[in-house]
Amino acid sequence: MALIEFENVSKHYGDTIVLENLSLTIEDNEFLAVVGPSGAGKTTLLRMLLSQEAPSSGRILIDGAPIAPEPMPDRGVVFQRYSVLPHRTVIGNVMTGPEWQAAPFTGRLFGKARQLLKARAQDMLDRVGLGGHAALYPAQLSGGQQQRLAIAQALMMNPKVLLLDEPFGALDPGTRRAMHKLVLELWSEHQMTVVMITHDLSEAFHLGTRVIAVDKRRHDPHAPHRYGSIITSDFDAKPRLARQLARAAG
Ligand SMILES: Nc1ncnc2c1ncn2[C@@H]1O[C@H](COP(=O)(O)OP(=O)(O)O)[C@@H](O)[C@H]1O
Ligand SMILES: [Mg+2]
Repeated sequence: MALIEFENVSKHYGDTIVLENLSLTIEDNEFLAVVGPSGAGKTTLLRMLLSQEAPSSGRILIDGAPIAPEPMPDRGVVFQRYSVLPHRTVIGNVMTGPEWQAAPFTGRLFGKARQLLKARAQDMLDRVGLGGHAALYPAQLSGGQQQRLAIAQALMMNPKVLLLDEPFGALDPGTRRAMHKLVLELWSEHQMTVVMITHDLSEAFHLGTRVIAVDKRRHDPHAPHRYGSIITSDFDAKPRLARQLARAAG
């Protein structure tokens, strides 16, 4: 089933055309990797999915209905450098989203409700390998651990769609491999749809069930802003991913 639909979506900032007449259907449970050169409009695409930006024309549907104009908890996001709350502990960071959702005025839960949430947060931290770090502060974590914290934080809201904007770009190769494994596991466990931006083509094909490239259709050296990006290729990577999962399973 189509979970997300872009219908003839264009985006421009003033004279600068960023995306041009983009149509894209994303299926439920798809792992879509988006590649393209810097400045192609990948982050803009993601920000529209988060309702942080509105299309200049065209529309975006989620589950067949126009996307809510406000950011909603059904869409979780992890950016390349995530700003976890520095003054809250690791477990406090993971509890923050659900606390504000349950208690919109105070962001605080008490008693039994708090205990239940704390137990769920601890489970999630165990899941991403941070179970022993619950009482630390973000500054005491490595880069890879902070990204795992950001992913745990996003997953605590049970998002239908997980949006990843170059989330592993800053990590060393070993940590990156561990994160790939973790994300594939969480994706298959949580039945999520993932949209991941990366500039690393091998990462795109390693993780994605589908890989699309966005780029300008034409480059006019005299007027680089005149043309926006379109989808220049769309590749079904499922057969490849099935092999990866089989290999990972043993
Ligand atoms: N808020 C904004 N105002 C004006 N221009 C913007 C804004 N956001 C992005 N852009 C421009 O849109 C283009 C695409 O940016 P972006 O989506 O960040 O590309 P990518 O993520 O593919 O590198 C760039 O030329 C950028 O300068
Ligand atoms: Mg970007």
